[in-house]
Amino acid sequence: MRILSGIQPSGSLHLGNYFGMMKKMIDYQEQGELFCFIANYHAMTSVSDGKALAKGTLEAAANFLALGMDPERSTFWVQSDVPEVQELAWFLSNFTPMGLLERCHSYKDKIAKGIAANHGLFAYPVLMSADILIFNSDKVPVGKDQKQHVEVTRDIAAKVNNEYGEIFTLPEPDIDDDVATVPGLDGQKMSKSYGNTIDLFQTEKQLRKQIMRIVTDPTPVEDPKDPDTCNVFQIYRLFLDKEQQDALRQRYLAGGLGYGDVKQELFETVRDYFTPFTERRNAILEDKETLHKTLEMGAQKARYAASKVMRKIRKKSGIAY
Ligand code: TYM
Repeated sequence: MRILSGIQPSGSLHLGNYFGMMKKMIDYQEQGELFCFIANYHAMTSVSDGKALAKGTLEAAANFLALGMDPERSTFWVQSDVPEVQELAWFLSNFTPMGLLERCHSYKDKIAKGIAANHGLFAYPVLMSADILIFNSDKVPVGKDQKQHVEVTRDIAAKVNNEYGEIFTLPEPDIDDDVATVPGLDGQKMSKSYGNTIDLFQTEKQLRKQIMRIVTDPTPVEDPKDPDTCNVFQIYRLFLDKEQQDALRQRYLAGGLGYGDVKQELFETVRDYFTPFTERRNAILEDKETLHKTLEMGAQKARYAASKVMRKIRKKSGIAY
């Protein structure tokens, strides 16, 4: 079983990234052959400042390593260090109907928000398909917002297989209902572009400020409250096991619970959860040489796997002449 996923280095990481994808990937290391990368080419669709992209790439790598990615056991690299992926993306473009990309929600949402349409944004799912297919991935852990992109990948792969025989494995998106869409401070999907995130690596002061901004309803303290419609509960539950969730639920239903108090508890929980990781992350970032070496090792492993598939494609397509 080959498990693959990637993350863009386009800003700070938030709880949506962590619970929707990163934590799952880290836990999966116990179970299968794990491939995980920093999607710096994808980030070019939103970051044009070169310095920021380079810095963000190293930080994203350090973050993942600090959270538990094991570069010895798994294959962990930066997307641009495996140029075969770009080559495959061009190949796949020739099997990608325009309509398939035109229907992509993520593209349509960005255009609706006023982001200028360009080819990078439009072809984003083709590059993502190349990422997935070049490693013959079986399972792709993602949040719900990326489900359609994995479905597009399957469509493209099926078209290629139809033409050239069984070259590609059809990947399955791997999404857990309880973390498919982690809500943000305002109850919408947590997303950097909505400005409603709780970030993983930040100062206590900033973290507290973010958590205190979680939107709550005006129910008086003494009244019973509904945990299922409460943004604080919906975020807090991510850190609690079933029993702890039930206990908190009872406190909501009993009345007498103040939102300020639960927010304070949530703040302490998030802080205590991430403090050890933050310390590790800072240490990793202080030793850039080792970090670069780790990423080089990952790129070598990834290139080895990718070049095997590309050789087959070049031959079948007649590009190898
Ligand atoms: P990115 O960097 O935008 O997001 C990384 C992962 O975090 C998930 N996510 C969420 N999950 C639940 N609730 C949320 N509020 C939330 N916000 C973000 C995303 O679904 C994603 O899984 N296109 C990918 C990067 C990529 C990729 C790939 C993924 C490039 N190539 C190949 C898998 C396979 C992306 O948008 O990542």
